[in-house]
Formats: sequence, structure tokens, C-alpha cells
Amino acid sequence: MQMTDASFAESLSEAAAEAERALDACLPAATDAAPGEAELIAAMRYAVMGGGKRLRAYLAMEAARLFDAPAPRGARVGAAMECLHAYSLVHDDMPCMDDDDLRRGKPTVHKVWDEATAVLAGDALQTMAFEILADPATHPDGAVRARLCLRLAQASGHAGMVGGQAIDLAAETATDPMGPDMVRKLQAMKTGALIEVSAEAGAIVGGADSAQIGRIRAYARALGEAFQIADDLLDVTGTVEEVGKAVGKDAGAGKATFVDILGIEGARARADELVAQAAAELAPFGARAAHLVEAARFVVERRS
Ligand code: IPE
Ligand code: IPE
Ligand code: MG
Ligand code: MG
Ligand code: MG
Repeated sequence: MQMTDASFAESLSEAAAEAERALDACLPAATDAAPGEAELIAAMRYAVMGGGKRLRAYLAMEAARLFDAPAPRGARVGAAMECLHAYSLVHDDMPCMDDDDLRRGKPTVHKVWDEATAVLAGDALQTMAFEILADPATHPDGAVRARLCLRLAQASGHAGMVGGQAIDLAAETATDPMGPDMVRKLQAMKTGALIEVSAEAGAIVGGADSAQIGRIRAYARALGEAFQIADDLLDVTGTVEEVGKAVGKDAGAGKATFVDILGIEGARARADELVAQAAAELAPFGARAAHLVEAARFVVERRS
């Protein structure tokens, strides 16, 4: 298997630093905050700053760049996606969901503060994502901003991430195992939708036409499925030190995963197939899309 190259690693770390700066500028500061408010802001910053691979920000920023959007616009869209993603992680880790103590190599928000603070920090990060997209600094045209908000709402709500989380939790107590079609639907919703909309939103802010947006979405859909397969594989094959979160929990928790259905080798083969599919969608963009092609490979080769 061809390894992702050094220029991709550099591009990902530069984008991560840029997303971090955009997040820092968008997030509130705790100066003069009331008791409670100060903890809320600290928890929001703790959850979203200084960690994570920044894959969603990267997809947004690279897609925006592909269509020549000014870099700060792509970075703001990337920051919005990372806020929404961080909120999903804070809630995903809570005792009523996956009950995890470690995230990005640090104690989870409900462990550092408490459950109420984790609920509220997640809520506030979610609304922060829409605040960033709706701000004229993201795009001067209100119709573009409305479209960004609409697509993120669709991808993150009942028909997207939140709906997928509900199906994921239901699988834990189901008496019959889920079939491959249902697992694919669950993964497309809980993980795929936010990954897809990250790339799509980058293309939207860059002024891509509908055919171009269609290709970017198809690319990100394949990448998103490969991404969750890799996450499920890492639960089985990774170490806590590598991934910065608990491993070896999915099977015992009754989670429905592709590893469960296809086995480790079958899941790897399916992920490789999806990477090839993702790359093929970008063929019309030629060398300008090289980093996005590399991103698809990175998703399945990653160890964290
Ligand atoms: C973890 O996402 C949660 C899933 C959707 C599987 P990431 O693996 O992208 O987490 P970070 O942002 O790098 O921490
Ligand atoms: C979570 O999937 C997807 C989200 C919407 C947060 P997982 O529960 O598998 O993610 P990890 O393994 O805890 O990061
Ligand atoms: Mg979960
Ligand atoms: Mg989890
Ligand atoms: Mg997982």
C-alpha cells in the first residue's frame, strides 16, 4: 500500500494550526465571566482546542482552496465543522452514551467538570458552529451563509449525526444483529454526514457549481465510510496511547460495526475500495485535488 507523503502531512499540520487560530478567534474568552459562565467557556475551549486530527477542518479548507476561496473563509468553515464535531464527541463520551473517560489523550469533559457542564458545553459548541457560519465574515452573500447553515443542520440533526447516534445506541440493546445495509446507514449518518458536509461546505464557500459540489460530496461520502471503518478497526487493533481514547470496547458494548460483519481483513479491504472510489471522484480536478486524494488514503492508514 502506498503511504501518504510528507507534503500531505505538512499540509495537514499547517491546516490544523490555521483552524486552531480561527477557532481561538471565534470562541469566547472567559474574561469578566460570571461563575458558571467561566466554567462553561473553559469547558468549550478544552473540548475543541489543542487536539484532534482536524480532518473535518482540513476537508473544508482544501475543498474551499480547490475553488479559490480566500483562505480565511475556508478556515472559518473548518472551525465551524470542528465545533460541531467537538460537541458530538463531548456528548458521545458521556455516561448515558459511550461512557468514556479519555478523549484526545485527556480526561473527558464530564470528568474534568461534571455532566451538566458537559451537556452545556456541547450545546454551546453546537450553536457556535452555526454562529460562525452565519457571520458575514464567513461569506458576504447572505444566501451562501444560509445554505451553509441549512446543510450543516441537515447533516448534524435527526437525519444525520444525531439520528446515527440514536441508531448506534439502539444497536447496543437490540436482540438481532444489524445487517450490512443498516450498519452502512448508521455509519453514513453518525459519522459520514458531518464529513460529507465539511467538504461540501468548503466547496460552497468557494462558489463551486452543482456538478462540482456533487463530485466533492461523492468523494467525501466514500471517505466518510472509510473513516468510520478505520475508527472501528482501531478499536480492535489500536492502543490507548496511539488513539488517545479507550479501545477494545465496541464488541463488548454491542456496537454494530463493519469489523463485526466483515472481520478485520474484510473491513480493511472494504476501506481500501472506498479510498479508490473517493479518489476516482476527484479525477476531473486533476493535480489540484492531490491533497484531497491523499486525505482519503490518510483516513485508512492512520493509527490515531
Ligand atoms: C472520532 O473522530 C469520532 C468519530 C466520528 C469516529 P476523529 O477520529 O476525527 O476525532 P479527532 O477529531 O481526531 O479527535
Ligand atoms: C462517534 O462514534 C461518532 C460521533 C458522532 C461522535 P464512536 O462512538 O465510535 O466514536 P469514538 O470511537 O468514541 O471516537
Ligand atoms: Mg459512540
Ligand atoms: Mg464513542
Ligand atoms: Mg469508535
